Amino acid sequence: MVKFDTAAHLQEVLHSFDKCEDPRFKEIMTSVVTHLHACVAELKLSPEEWISAIKFLTATGAICTDKRQEFILLSDLLGVSTLTIGINQHRGEDCLEDTVEGPYYWEGAPELPLGSDISNGVTGEKTYYHGKVIDPEGNPIANALLDVWSGDGDGNYDMQLPDQVEMLARAKFRTDEQGNYSFWSIRPSYYPIPQDGPAGLMQSKLHRHPNRPGHIHFKISAPDFYPVNTQLFVANGPYLDSDCVFGVKPSLIIDYIEHPAGITPDGKHLAAPYYSVPFDLRLTAV
Ligand code: BEZ
Ligand code: FE
Repeated sequence: MVKFDTAAHLQEVLHSFDKCEDPRFKEIMTSVVTHLHACVAELKLSPEEWISAIKFLTATGAICTDKRQEFILLSDLLGVSTLTIGINQHRGEDCLEDTVEGPYYWEGAPELPLGSDISNGVTGEKTYYHGKVIDPEGNPIANALLDVWSGDGDGNYDMQLPDQVEMLARAKFRTDEQGNYSFWSIRPSYYPIPQDGPAGLMQSKLHRHPNRPGHIHFKISAPDFYPVNTQLFVANGPYLDSDCVFGVKPSLIIDYIEHPAGITPDGKHLAAPYYSVPFDLRLTAV
């Protein structure tokens, strides 16, 4: 039997990139192709197995819409999103950490006054989120922009609800002169990632559960500080130690303080018990 020369074949393919004028693209393609060839050779992948991988990626693309991004989900489930964030993040000591954005960000949430309630039409227990955006020394950052979104108390994002065309539980807020932010929303529940597509099939074939712990997303930006794209996780909830997309960081697990019905910290009267989340958001200076 004549043995196929895998090393010579790889060199021939890499040589075909010689005329590429974009050095970074060439570097990336060289690395990806080298690792891909090594993987196929090491696994002695059959043509049928390679075709099934191609069919998997084809199905991943086919299920994507403007409201569903299966490739992001796949990247999240494989830990690649968390890896790219981790190796690129600029984070000072004790400053806020980044984590995965996930597939449910919806560009264009309305900017609302501080203290607004964004829980209208959203299931779940009311929660008052408040604190300051601060610099590494604890000084307030005025005019920082917070872009906030979460699922509801049953584990659904607005985009996942049938016939829901309006945004729910999403808004932007700007800190005041003292760096304060505040708004009302709900305490989000844990939830399963969509399981009816290729990413979910992969997850079940690997015998991994499909759940994310309850969390609320924050994108925060302010001039002279690194932007942060993060989540605050509900302490003591399920799946904090086994998030299916590897997004939980201990510094992002936050206590939701329970309050009986009555007068709220911002002077409202609530007839039902509620939660509050006091949390300062410390940014890293550029
Ligand atoms: C999310 O945070 O909503 C999310 C992140 C990664 C995958 C799926 C959902
Ligand atoms: Fe989320």
